[in-house]
Amino acid sequence: MAGAVGLAEFLSRVDALRQEAVAAFHAASDTESLEKARIAYLGAKSGRLRALQKNLAGLDRADKPQAGQGFNRVKRDLDAALEAASKRIAQPVTAERSAGIFDPTVPGKQLSLGTIHPVTQTMLDVAEIMGRLGFTVAEGPEVEDEWHNFGALNIPRSHPARDPLDNFYLAVGGKSSPRQMLLRSQTSTVQIRVMERTRPPVRIISLGRVYRPDTADATHYPMFHQIEGLLVDQRVTMADLKSVLRLFAMSYFGGDVHIRFRPSFFPFTEPSVEVDMSWHEGWIEMGGAGMVDPHVLQAVGYDPEDVTGFAFGLGVERICMRRYGLTDIRHLYENDVRFLQQF
Ligand code: FA5
Repeated sequence: MAGAVGLAEFLSRVDALRQEAVAAFHAASDTESLEKARIAYLGAKSGRLRALQKNLAGLDRADKPQAGQGFNRVKRDLDAALEAASKRIAQPVTAERSAGIFDPTVPGKQLSLGTIHPVTQTMLDVAEIMGRLGFTVAEGPEVEDEWHNFGALNIPRSHPARDPLDNFYLAVGGKSSPRQMLLRSQTSTVQIRVMERTRPPVRIISLGRVYRPDTADATHYPMFHQIEGLLVDQRVTMADLKSVLRLFAMSYFGGDVHIRFRPSFFPFTEPSVEVDMSWHEGWIEMGGAGMVDPHVLQAVGYDPEDVTGFAFGLGVERICMRRYGLTDIRHLYENDVRFLQQF
């Protein structure tokens, strides 16, 4: 037994013992080694803490309360460290633990939750609003033939819209093939496919990818998405078209959006308009629209004397940009997680 020690020396020994014992409990990898460490430090007869406790008797009377408190604190710390170690050992052995590198104090791995891409979210929202207006979703292929992308849409053979420099033609079947294929340049193809297989009335939207060899800039991208709308029935008028687009814009963007129609030309609608929506201090072009041209109705076997219809095609990215205040379409396709995490 060591001779009499002062208060400072006593407290420093108790603290040194605490550090040593906590490290030993921490290092114990099984019940046996932990029990050995327990007996060595906390054993009732010959444990090192018990040996230190005997020094208490030799301290000055005035120092005893402080020394006793210090001793009790260390005893509590060691009991807690022992309990944590025995809980850890009782857990099932994992690969890391058996390799000796398991550290229960390391924070768990944070799993990051993905979110829906803003363009997809925009299409889901648009489909939901148009669904409330009675439009069901129709689908069509992204690899199209010339008939559905141009011919049936009243786009003549000589029309510049068919220019190889403005389209992604595919080498399927070779040049002499009667069915020249291309990546569709507009979702208006789906209007034709739906009318070919459905008798009027028709009330559909179609959402999907389209492709054009446009140079990417703030508002253009070579692959983008369109939402196509088509309504064919008896006595459908331009007023119906305007009402539906206005209702859509107000439901999606809120009451403060302004929408304007500019006269335009599309071979498959007559009359035709460009649809703009207010954007900051000015306007952004959202798409084209018009009354379905009688030639198109005839091409799919409808009687233009019996039914009329309207159609529209809007750029999904433009809608998404206006909604979220984005100033550059390219952000949507850079796959930068810092950008995408905001949605
Ligand atoms: C058309 O594609 C017509 N099919 C729209 C239509 C449908 C008219 C039905 C009449 C009846 P346009 O080429 O203007 O029209 O494209 C429509 C919209 O797609 C544009 O207003 C724009 O919002 C979007 N858009 C066009 N090119 C790009 C591009 N490269 N990148 C992103 N968005 C584009």
